[in-house]
Amino acid sequence: MAIVSATEMVNKALEGHYAIPAFNTNNLEWTKCILTAVEETKTPVMIQTSEGAAKYMGGYKLVVDMVNDLIDSMGITVPVALHLDHGTFEGAKKCIEVGYSSVMFDGSHFGIEENIEKSKEIIALAHSKGVSVECEVGGIGGVEDGVASAGELADPAECKLIADLGVDFLAAGIGNIHGKYPADWAGLNFDRLAEIKAAIGGKPMVLHGGSGIPFEQTKKAVGLGVSKININTELQLVFAAATRKYIEDGKDLEGKGYDPRKLLKPGSDAIIAKAKELCEAFEAAGKA
Ligand code: 13P
Repeated sequence: MAIVSATEMVNKALEGHYAIPAFNTNNLEWTKCILTAVEETKTPVMIQTSEGAAKYMGGYKLVVDMVNDLIDSMGITVPVALHLDHGTFEGAKKCIEVGYSSVMFDGSHFGIEENIEKSKEIIALAHSKGVSVECEVGGIGGVEDGVASAGELADPAECKLIADLGVDFLAAGIGNIHGKYPADWAGLNFDRLAEIKAAIGGKPMVLHGGSGIPFEQTKKAVGLGVSKININTELQLVFAAATRKYIEDGKDLEGKGYDPRKLLKPGSDAIIAKAKELCEAFEAAGKA
């Protein structure tokens, strides 16, 4: 099966009270590990790239071909959407053109008027090609922006304006943060999540910064309408830790331990294990 639009899988998750895991990929190994984990757990998945990661891998077209070829060669049977994460206006257009099945247009740094105008154009273009669209309101905090114990909170009225454009799923700040959560993080703001949900009606919502949020909180968020959870940092951390251990244990110096297929194996196994754990935690396992 080739890559599919994410609309149906995310809507089913909303109805079934679970969340689609949306894993960021960085390279061939990452993509294979994510596909292995979701196939073994029978989980519908969104594989996403930032614009930077796609550039690192060789471009959008290469990513489309890589994911489609792996689905074919690995015999993947679960639904897989290929999604652009935090796309610019130009990046989203390009991804729609070259075959991504889903795009995020992140206009949250524009004023709401400009965000609406640009979102509207991307939604029309994407839908004319059967591509699903995520838009963002209000920005998501990040520790790289400085010390941030509480993430940003989106304005429910602005969320309604973007939701009414016909977006398929909406990202909005509810205290979540990209990257590692600081020890004094205030947690997700469920009151704001409920207010946004009430304002946007039946639209599914996206939780960015999914790495490291305690599962009681992700579960509660899913109960309040979150149907897609983004994970990037958590897979990077387990990959780095397992690779560090391999090197620190001197394994690269034993026999042909320097062969990249051996060197990257512990990190790859760690990605698979963590991705499977998250598929179970978001209750998406078995839903494909
Ligand atoms: P984390 O890196 O915090 O998991 O966030 C991922 C994300 O939200 C990508 O948009």
